[in-house]
Amino acid sequence: MCGIVGYTGNRPVLPILIGGLKKLEYRGYDSAGCAIVTGEGRMEVYKATGKVANLEDKTRECNNHGTLGIAHTRWATHGVPSVTNAHPHVSQSGNLAIVHNGIIENYATLCEQLKKRGYTFKSQTDTEVIVQLIEYIMTIRDCDLAAGVLSALKLCIGAYAIAVIDRRNPTRIVAARKSSPLAIGVGEGNGEFFIASDASPIAEYTKKIVYLNDEEVAIIEKGKELQVENIRTGSVDFEIKDIDLDLTMLDKGGFPHFMLKEIFDQPAVLKDCMRGRVIAADGGYRVILSAVEQHKQKLVNASRFTIVSCGTSWHAGLIGKQLIEHFCRIHTEVAYASEYRYNDIVVDPGEIVIAISQSGETADTLAAIEAARERGAMVFGIVNSVGSSIARRADTGTYVHIGQEIGVASTKAFTGQVTVLAMFALALGMERGSVDPAEYNEVLRELTLLPDKIERVLQQNDKIRDMARTFTYARNCLYLGRGWNYPVALEGALKLKEISYIHAEGYPAAEMKHGPIALIDQDMPVIFIAPHDRLYHKIISNMQEVISRKGRIFAIITENDHTIRKICSDVIEIPETPACLSPLLSVVPLQLLSYHVAVAKQLDVDQPRNLAKSVTVE
Ligand code: AGP
Repeated sequence: MCGIVGYTGNRPVLPILIGGLKKLEYRGYDSAGCAIVTGEGRMEVYKATGKVANLEDKTRECNNHGTLGIAHTRWATHGVPSVTNAHPHVSQSGNLAIVHNGIIENYATLCEQLKKRGYTFKSQTDTEVIVQLIEYIMTIRDCDLAAGVLSALKLCIGAYAIAVIDRRNPTRIVAARKSSPLAIGVGEGNGEFFIASDASPIAEYTKKIVYLNDEEVAIIEKGKELQVENIRTGSVDFEIKDIDLDLTMLDKGGFPHFMLKEIFDQPAVLKDCMRGRVIAADGGYRVILSAVEQHKQKLVNASRFTIVSCGTSWHAGLIGKQLIEHFCRIHTEVAYASEYRYNDIVVDPGEIVIAISQSGETADTLAAIEAARERGAMVFGIVNSVGSSIARRADTGTYVHIGQEIGVASTKAFTGQVTVLAMFALALGMERGSVDPAEYNEVLRELTLLPDKIERVLQQNDKIRDMARTFTYARNCLYLGRGWNYPVALEGALKLKEISYIHAEGYPAAEMKHGPIALIDQDMPVIFIAPHDRLYHKIISNMQEVISRKGRIFAIITENDHTIRKICSDVIEIPETPACLSPLLSVVPLQLLSYHVAVAKQLDVDQPRNLAKSVTVE
């Protein structure tokens, strides 16, 4: 996710921009920039990689007291983090500047069309394409900035929150949004306006705020009435609301912790992850991953796959193994990257190594792919952080596109990675002819329904918070699952360990009787992940084994399951979905459970002791 800030009014704009970016830095930063326009129409652009403080340093010499400006803190989606790719991007004439949060799926096509009309591009970003397109339309139609933006956005496919300025009109900002948030602060009685990705940079200046809706364009002029238009239907009414959130809460979108925000963001970010990749076609669904298209032969003929990753990403890899073997019928191993890098590994001819990483900077995973490459393996990256080391060292890959994850305990990254793995396995299975077309279509259809089903699970948050109280003073917990949900048992245990500091162990449910059952007593909470699948009746037997030893059991069950309710009173229901997708639902209650236990224990949820968000050391 990127952060956008803008201002038009009578104050010097630079401190407003820098201060606003600092409030949005949680949204991610790999670079930042700003464009300032003086009353005489002189525009100055400053950019820097890294934190906003680096941009602030660059602007210290700035003596531009302009009162119009836009600024951006970037979390790369197209193009590596660099000054060139940092926003704002300026049009060919130098008159327009734009900042953007989102992904334009058809930017490559638009770029080619603009190149044929004499436009050149400095960056690798989709954002530069938008500003050149706006300029092109303004030129051929001899229209103003607002008309140019309205027309250009009709040609763009994807998600955007943009702010555009034209130095020839140094009091106006044109802003628009679709699927990416954008808010407008309305100055109280002084004709000034603020724009930002959320209310946090605005709240210190005004409590009056307008939230744009999808496909709405705001025409913002100092000292004039705000105008809002829908790109298809024209002028629309808008509501000026009062910001009523505590400022410290605003940095997290109104949530008390980033982790909780990211758990609740999962429905929205999984839509981002699938956008432009899972599409309705010929009355059914298709999945298109550009990396699979480009490397079809190597992938179709892969002799085997080895997945290397760490922690939560390793748990996603265990599900990836089952997905690839089920849909592609190719032998797949999963290795801890930290072990793989030093083992005397054997890499078969035609073997492909898949590296999974949220940060893309995990030292063990980076070393593992170097070891694989040295032995001739092709490396496929499934990474969230664009332009990260692992993404750049891989031969190809698929970005997860779930926005930066701030909470140290990985949540949306896990579900994003599993979603990519499902898309990958289905796409490759179809190329290999190893997947049943009916199942292919059904699983893809179900994937599109998952965000709404996750929403239904999230609605049980209060019930899960109440359940968490039982765990607050537990010293040990056991998580048990089978098949598709054995990795979920591991992930649930890791979540509890790393943020509540309670020892927890994930185990294959049937394997528990080969030893760990000795641990069972009335003080050991045991959580079963027991959705309706082919092992359902087996896991009920495992539950009985625990009950008969006075164990206290909790269960994640499929909606309307009345059998388990008879033996277990503490249940959380998840909607019906194909077994191969059930981890995407069954993990959510475990994420919330670990969160609420940590909160009940008054621990630092977002920055647990001893942990780092990216383990860039051995
Ligand atoms: C998960 O909650 C942990 N923060 C940790 O296990 C993490 O998944 C692991 O360090 C791998 O990180 P990566 O996905 O960025 O490579």
